[in-house]
Amino acid sequence: MAKIAPGVGPRHPQVVVLFGATGDLARRKLLPGLWHLCNAGYIPDCRIIGVSLEDIGVERFRSLTREAVNASSLRKDSDGEWNGFAERLDYVPLSAGAAALKAAVTAAEAHFDGEHRRLHYASVPPNAALSTVRLIAEAGLVERSRIIMEKPFGTDVASAKALNAHLHEVFDEDQIFRIDHFLGKEPAQNILAFRFANGLFEPIWNRNFIDHVQIDVPETLDLGRRAGFYESTGAYRDMVVTHLFQILAFMAMEPPATLDPKSISEEKNKVFRSLLPIESTHVVRGQYAGYRAEPGVDPESDVETFVALRCSIDNWRWASVPFYLRTGKCMADGQRIISIAFREPPKSMFPANSGVGAKGPDHLTFDLADASKMSLSFYGKRPGPGMRLDKLSLQFAMHDTGYVGDVLEAYERLILDAMRGDHTLFTTAEGIERVWEASTPLLDDPPPVRMYPKGSWGPNAIHQLIVPHAWRLPFERIWRDPNRLGE
Ligand code: BG6
Repeated sequence: MAKIAPGVGPRHPQVVVLFGATGDLARRKLLPGLWHLCNAGYIPDCRIIGVSLEDIGVERFRSLTREAVNASSLRKDSDGEWNGFAERLDYVPLSAGAAALKAAVTAAEAHFDGEHRRLHYASVPPNAALSTVRLIAEAGLVERSRIIMEKPFGTDVASAKALNAHLHEVFDEDQIFRIDHFLGKEPAQNILAFRFANGLFEPIWNRNFIDHVQIDVPETLDLGRRAGFYESTGAYRDMVVTHLFQILAFMAMEPPATLDPKSISEEKNKVFRSLLPIESTHVVRGQYAGYRAEPGVDPESDVETFVALRCSIDNWRWASVPFYLRTGKCMADGQRIISIAFREPPKSMFPANSGVGAKGPDHLTFDLADASKMSLSFYGKRPGPGMRLDKLSLQFAMHDTGYVGDVLEAYERLILDAMRGDHTLFTTAEGIERVWEASTPLLDDPPPVRMYPKGSWGPNAIHQLIVPHAWRLPFERIWRDPNRLGE
């Protein structure tokens, strides 16, 4: 296995205490991610203690982890590598209590010489977050530790404030890492590089040139094993308050003074402060047909599995530029795009039937898939006599570079950052509380849910919401396939 450059990983050995270790996220992302970080040499020395409600022993936890690694990880295990990793895993059922947890951490730490750190990962639903923090305090495991808190962080402004206040009774702010895995995605960070490392785009990144913005994250996924979680959250809390607003902040923020965590957080928080309250009249809530019959779902559930909304950032850069956000489960396609529509020219000298403007405005589109893509579309002349115009595009795909194999999965990147104490890609108490505050009108008075068929793009009302514009998805012209260039 290739060794990683010094300085990329944490300086000290780590004990990871993973709360919610048998849950959906742990199986799909966290355990496979830890496996990769350990085996690829990112973490010099690491022991992992799983904690969850399930009354299982360490051997069952190890086999469950191996199943998770094989099911989710692109990098399959070999027996030799697996045995080395399995030996680092331990398990404590929640019912064993604080003393047993402390004993397991002490035993893990006995493997290290010299200085080491603890990383608690609270991969638990919002209603279990506080009891997890209390358990850590009761077990005396706060010292030398950091804690990653999973989203959604609270369920409204009051619960987010209460959670922050309780957290601060136990942890200092610099020990707390509120995770939003969309910020760990390479393409999300690439938005910052694209905007601030080039002189070309930033001058047109404002209301004078940009007409409107779409952040669209449809998913084909259904609830899987998450009905219980989903019934207490819904699409707005699960995706918008967290991921979509965080992406919006990267897209909309002012240039930070430096790339240090404080400067970036401050600029993001300014965007959230300028976010106008989300009004119910600008929101479409949807529920896919058949949701109420899913196991674990209330047959009269009013929870939305889809949400589309219009929001505005009330500052000089973005005044009067609408931002349209959409996400949902069981939709027609799985995509994650940011689409920026530019203003059209003030006057056209092209003949009416030339095709100018016929395919919408020029667009800059970011695809936030792990191996990102970007496209800039514009009108150009179709070859031949006369003046017929077509929509053309310049496209970039990370696949065209030799870097695809270097991409760290979002959770891997963020776990590594937390171990190194780097807050740059994490959210702050202020930012989160402000986003909940802006959400209050919607949460207090949500519009009724409208049904949509599975495999569709949401309820019909989404078209009304975006008039006079149109949703970019489904794309009229699909991404160019990098393997078929030149055909
Ligand atoms: C999670 C949500 O945070 O993000 C899920 O809880 C959602 O409902 C997922 O499916 C999407 O993340 P990704 O990385 O698969 O796009």
